[in-house]
Amino acid sequence: MRFFVDSVDIVEIKKLTELGLVDGVTTNPSLIAKSGQNFLETIEKICAVVAGPVSAEVAATDYEDMILEGRKLAKIAKNVAIKLPLIENGVRACKTLASEGYMVNLTLCFSVSQALLAAKAGAAFVSPFVGRLDDIGIEGMDLIDDVVKVFSNYEFSTQVLVASVRNPNHVVEAALMGADIVTLPPSVLWKLFDHPLTEKGLQLFLADWEKTGQAIL
Ligand code: G3P
Repeated sequence: MRFFVDSVDIVEIKKLTELGLVDGVTTNPSLIAKSGQNFLETIEKICAVVAGPVSAEVAATDYEDMILEGRKLAKIAKNVAIKLPLIENGVRACKTLASEGYMVNLTLCFSVSQALLAAKAGAAFVSPFVGRLDDIGIEGMDLIDDVVKVFSNYEFSTQVLVASVRNPNHVVEAALMGADIVTLPPSVLWKLFDHPLTEKGLQLFLADWEKTGQAIL
């Protein structure tokens, strides 16, 4: 399973990359708006730190401008994945851009039928949003289970990129279901390390080691 970081925070991205845990990055317009950072400069900086795919989302919703914006974003670095919304024009633009050899991430996926369209359009990734389904009382992970099953029936090359991840359980369930990638806010990624019994056990080991009076170095 690959871990992407869902963030535009270059400091956090660098820290996690140094741990060897980052296989890519996803961004979205809301993350950029919240950060107050320049979008194009931020994508360039992230691409310089992370070798894997870096998703950069178009702002246009008409086919022609999606193509123009997508090509412009892809020129920033070879590892840019053009992020397009799963609307009719986004699927059409995906077909065109994928046929030109660009990596496309079709995002805002909330149904198996949308995921099927993404696969047929040649998207490199499709991003089903689990947390936002949970937020309206629908089990988001059921969508992942269904999409993974459907994709495995047809040898689709599109990778399931689980997004809108809110906690470590989403990560574990996605892995149990065989999803290809999860994209994680840094806070969720850091939580993957935590278990109270690990902390308690380590303190006990250290206390007992202290009693031996020995040193390794
Ligand atoms: O960036 C795409 C997705 O991960 C957004 O997640 O938490 O805004 O629903 P969220």
